[in-house]
Amino acid sequence: MSAVRGGFSSRLGFILAAAGSAVGLGNIWGFPTQTASNGGAAFVLVYLVLAFCLAYPAFMAELLIGRYGQANAVTSMEKMSRNLWQKRFAFIVGFGGIICAALILSFYGILAGWMMSYAIEPVTSLLGYSEASSWLTSQSITRNLIFTALFMMLTISIIRRGVEDGIEKWSKRLMPMLIGLLILLIIYVFTLEGSREGFVAYLNPDISRIFEPDLLISALGQAFFSLSLGTSVMVIYGSYISKKENLVTLGAQVTLIDVSIAFLAGLLIIPSMYVAQSQGVAIFSDEGALISGPNLVFDVLPSLFDGMGAIGLFVGFGFFVLMSIAALTSSISMLEGPVSFVVERHNIERKRATTFIGFGIFVTSALIVLNFDALFGLVISISTVYGQPLIAMLCCVFVGWIWQRSGILAEIKLGNDTVEHSLFWKIWPWYTKFICPSAIAIVFYHSL
Ligand code: PFF
Repeated sequence: MSAVRGGFSSRLGFILAAAGSAVGLGNIWGFPTQTASNGGAAFVLVYLVLAFCLAYPAFMAELLIGRYGQANAVTSMEKMSRNLWQKRFAFIVGFGGIICAALILSFYGILAGWMMSYAIEPVTSLLGYSEASSWLTSQSITRNLIFTALFMMLTISIIRRGVEDGIEKWSKRLMPMLIGLLILLIIYVFTLEGSREGFVAYLNPDISRIFEPDLLISALGQAFFSLSLGTSVMVIYGSYISKKENLVTLGAQVTLIDVSIAFLAGLLIIPSMYVAQSQGVAIFSDEGALISGPNLVFDVLPSLFDGMGAIGLFVGFGFFVLMSIAALTSSISMLEGPVSFVVERHNIERKRATTFIGFGIFVTSALIVLNFDALFGLVISISTVYGQPLIAMLCCVFVGWIWQRSGILAEIKLGNDTVEHSLFWKIWPWYTKFICPSAIAIVFYHSL
């Protein structure tokens, strides 16, 4: 770990930072929403299988690239290349990931801004500022611009401090808060009438749906988004880990935390919907499906909090603070990808680079806010439906076909003397070479 680049000071620091990147709106909003619209536990089952069988191996590929290269995504991949064509390919994959991260941040910042404004609303309600409350919870260009800017400023202020003082320190503060809040909210919702029905709906799989192509595609997309794959983020986080650490175990721990938090978020959101139903809130659409997407978070849940009376203000506050924290630990990782590239390749000082890039991304968000109908869905599709699977697949191709096998094995062995006897050692290199790229390509092709 070079003192000039900075790096994680401890194993826990890395785990919390990487889990912080992975655990975000995708887990707490996306996963329960997808579960609600894809047959409940059938989706959960498929998601678990895909997360461990496809997303985890691809995640390991990105971590290993970074730890080997000890540099930003482009430079790390270039270090593995042995000729000019490979170097060009390295640039395309590495830089593509960086652009993907920046694009994701441009829409993610808007969503996170909504979460922040909804988190402040209970406070204004409590103080009796009803006009402010209704402004905070109604869609408007001004509100969206202000809160996106605020959220970006928070993100920038953490990344300006660097890896240890910024990313690691804040992940160590925010992640325990996130987990604590999530558990408290689940316990509270379980004491409410109607939650049991939601619990059953969540955990009772409709097995007939398991092989539906749409369900498989949604589950894979969700797993890739959740592990922040195809964005250069895990490459750069991998590059900040010491060579003494056992990467195979660390990667598995992060995946487990990510999947567990998504599962817990489902335990909060789906039962909450049924509690809302028992209070007279409609939770099924006209077609009979559970309401999902923005309506779930910004209509159904706030109606539930309203129906709880005074305590609803605290529960609503807790819920939207939880969402904002989850978004922040992810957004810092998205900004770190482009910042590390500019700092290392163009020798620009970190603070300046962060402010400059953060501002550029905010301008993109502002363009999206001002042309919401035309751009919002488009940017989400380009970055998450096309960009992430494609880049993640190319990272596996890179590791499987370009990086020399002896180099891969040597990197896996660092910090892990007994790995030669493990299943990972026997299967993973072959798996990443053939199975991961083909499986991702097949699912990607179907999703088009
Ligand atoms: N993993 C984050 C979530 O589940 O919300 C989203 C994300 C973070 C995507 C970082 C991409 C990224 F680079």
